[in-house]
Amino acid sequence: MKKIIDLIGEELADGFAQAGYDASYGKVTISNRPDLCEYQCNGALAGAKAYKKAPFMIAEDVAEKIKARPCFEEVSVVKPGFINLKLQKTYIADYINQMAGDQDLGLEKVEDPKMILVDYGGPNVAKPLHVGHLRSAIIGESVKRIARKMGHKVLGDIHLGDWGYQMGLIITELMERKPELPYFQEEYEGEYPKEAPFTIGELEEIYPTASQKAKENEAYREKALHATYLLQNGHRGYTALWNHIIQVSVSDLKKNYANLHVEFDLWKGESDAQAYIPDMVERLKTEGYAHIDDGALVVDVEEETDTKDVPPCIIQKSDGASLYSTTDLATLVQREEDYHPDQVIYLADKRQELHFVQVFRTAKKTGIVPEETDLKFLGFGTMNGKDGKPFKTREGGVMRLENLIAEIEGEMLKKIMDNRTVDEEEARKTARLVGLAAIKYGDLSNQASKDYVFDVDRFTSFEGNTGPYVLYTIVRIKSILNKYQADGGNLAGLCVMPADSDSEKALQLEASKYNDVMAAAYEELAPHKICAYIYDLANAFNRFYHEVKILAEEDAKKKQSYIALLLLVRCVLEECIEVLGFEAPERM
Ligand code: ARG
Repeated sequence: MKKIIDLIGEELADGFAQAGYDASYGKVTISNRPDLCEYQCNGALAGAKAYKKAPFMIAEDVAEKIKARPCFEEVSVVKPGFINLKLQKTYIADYINQMAGDQDLGLEKVEDPKMILVDYGGPNVAKPLHVGHLRSAIIGESVKRIARKMGHKVLGDIHLGDWGYQMGLIITELMERKPELPYFQEEYEGEYPKEAPFTIGELEEIYPTASQKAKENEAYREKALHATYLLQNGHRGYTALWNHIIQVSVSDLKKNYANLHVEFDLWKGESDAQAYIPDMVERLKTEGYAHIDDGALVVDVEEETDTKDVPPCIIQKSDGASLYSTTDLATLVQREEDYHPDQVIYLADKRQELHFVQVFRTAKKTGIVPEETDLKFLGFGTMNGKDGKPFKTREGGVMRLENLIAEIEGEMLKKIMDNRTVDEEEARKTARLVGLAAIKYGDLSNQASKDYVFDVDRFTSFEGNTGPYVLYTIVRIKSILNKYQADGGNLAGLCVMPADSDSEKALQLEASKYNDVMAAAYEELAPHKICAYIYDLANAFNRFYHEVKILAEEDAKKKQSYIALLLLVRCVLEECIEVLGFEAPERM
């Protein structure tokens, strides 16, 4: 379905043309004075110069042409030349009835689906998942779902950090603790044990211990670096250990991400890119893209229009070692071979921006990806505590994701148990759903690139711009619909009638914007736009709910119309929270 704002835009464009002006002035926007009108057109102001005419006069000419059209209830011209528009109630009701009859609720899916890869999550194997990785997972999951909802072919890739120095650290520490293990016997030729010589709990303790030791002890650090080197060059025992580390970590990560309702299609990692490095490096050399600078192999990526310094992209250090950028480039080689994506979207801390600028430029310049491939970096800000500093535990340590989720769920459980008397088991399940919504909405309602304050009290509140408030609204609608059915009402074949109150009109109008909002959220990779929308929609519904007696309405036709409207609003809200990555319980 066409967006309602575009339909009105067409009327305005036609109005301008009929009044003898250029149709392109007929652009319509949502009103920034909702007290005066619903939509507005500022084209007369824009055209005044070209036509050497007062904007007010142009606006009047146009208004005259469109006034009587069936979509408008009111077309008014205000100084200096705004055209204010109010829509006809029948028109809005028609539109939302069409939406309700459409399987995508009026969303126009793209005609030419793109192949999109979303690179998100990016946890580092063997290190505990901490809140820093939360944003990447939450925003990436939402971006993936939004793109999919628009009809694109989308794959999410976790891009594990599974190849770096942390592996050498773990191997070194294990060697200190259990030198008798076969992985460390150079002459050992038999098979290695199937079972890993550690649990996830041990692994999580081994890494920080080793990391601390390496900082304090140079010899230990050298050992770890050497172990990393040996692993990366195919050491048999270390490779077997590495496989154990991956296996133990990945099954733990899968559990954690499942709790967050984050689902990856691909579980690839930095290690998968390594096989592509030698050929890639060779080609960059022979084709003259890379040159030696101060011992390192680099590609120049500076551009004339740069306002900031963009240093060359380092492909290999002087000792021949690869870097983060090397791995990301090789990953692109592999992605190009396997999927030939039209777009790759990367989620990472915004402080990694320069890295991605260098990688993207190198990839384009050297033909690793074609010129038309859209490489996008979606950098996010820091999640801060109430003190404005990066979020920490009460004790000041790095907060583990599991603990954070448990804290929020505990908070939700308290509130739900206080609120009413559902049995504890249901309350627990509900707390899990609402807690997840609190966390995700708290994050997604902010523009991704901004830092934000993770405020447990605010995020878990049932009032205000929060996940629980939106869920509460959905649950309220569900409960009305259930009561209606319990009283013998049938939900099939209902139709929305033109609004007969301001609050109903406002609610219908809000509902009609769904397809526009979803498309904009995709265009701008901006889940926060969906949050802002469902907050408005939930507010519009609650106002309607407080002003209008729905189930007590005596006019049967009217009551059916209200129910039809509720059904639609529920669907829109549920579609929206689905792309945000959470869902509503039956009761709360
Ligand atoms: N593992 C990285 C980190 O923890 C994030 C990876 C982002 N993705 C990428 N292709 N570089 O910072």
